Amino acid sequence: MTTNSSTSSLVDEGGATEVRAGSYYGYGIPYLPIQGYPGKIIAIEGTDGVGRSTQISLLREWLEVQGYGVVETGWTRSDLMQPTIDLAKASNTLNKLTFVLLYATDFADRLEKEIIPALKAGFIVLSDRYIFTALARAGVRGVDRTWVRSLYGFAIAPHLVFYLKIDEKTLIRRVLQSRGMDYWESGMDMKLGDDIYESFRAYQRSLLREYASMADEFGFRVLDARRKVDVIQEELRRQIAAFLAESESPTPVRPE
Ligand SMILES: Nc1ncnc2c1ncn2[C@@H]1O[C@H](COP(=O)(O)OP(=O)(O)OP(=O)(O)O)[C@@H](O)[C@H]1O
Ligand SMILES: [Mg+2]
Repeated sequence: MTTNSSTSSLVDEGGATEVRAGSYYGYGIPYLPIQGYPGKIIAIEGTDGVGRSTQISLLREWLEVQGYGVVETGWTRSDLMQPTIDLAKASNTLNKLTFVLLYATDFADRLEKEIIPALKAGFIVLSDRYIFTALARAGVRGVDRTWVRSLYGFAIAPHLVFYLKIDEKTLIRRVLQSRGMDYWESGMDMKLGDDIYESFRAYQRSLLREYASMADEFGFRVLDARRKVDVIQEELRRQIAAFLAESESPTPVRPE
């Protein structure tokens, strides 16, 4: 796979379409052309508690030591939307549609204010989750897949998407050993089980299925997240180094 021809697809009404990394998936943001921006988006995807933040902070350190400018962006972290999403979650007043639209607004805000300016300035954007988390969460709640993919037509196809893949049992052990299960990560709004443990298990099982079903569609680079932190980090660094070396190498001149 060559750097600038890596593709992902986003289903629209006309069927699956191939999208070049660094381009909009669909209609994009009409007043913000992004062609030729030198920055790169590297997304780390995976379910709740799988180890994304751990890997991202190690990656950031490694990239900065090499002289790269790094910007981190993460789900529901936009200044505009974070308080609203927190409020809606706390008061349990989210229904399926507002859930999807609030997340999309958060993403749109970060795209305009953080991600696109960083791409323009040549930064590496490390994204803790990307639109795939939104697609997975909407999918398990029965929101129409074509509709939600089309909604995210304003998003930019990342240059690399790493998916931290884990099984349900290992995930449960990891989450119980660290910070425990929370209401939303357990899908308690969906009333899937009698208690938070059962609910977490059922919800996460469905989410893992959703992520798995997107792997080919969006060209995820799948990493076994059951391994040790440093083993996963080493694999990430190897793949990212190879990608950056290729994207920085001069374009070969075609013979006339
Ligand atoms: N490969 C690993 N093996 C064992 N434990 C891990 C591994 N990676 C992370 N952890 C531990 O699992 C917990 C969750 O990790 P982390 O916060 O990085 O996950 P996250 O995916 O960012 O979670 P969240 O969904 O809450 O943002 C932490 O206690 C972390 O130390
Ligand atoms: Mg995290």
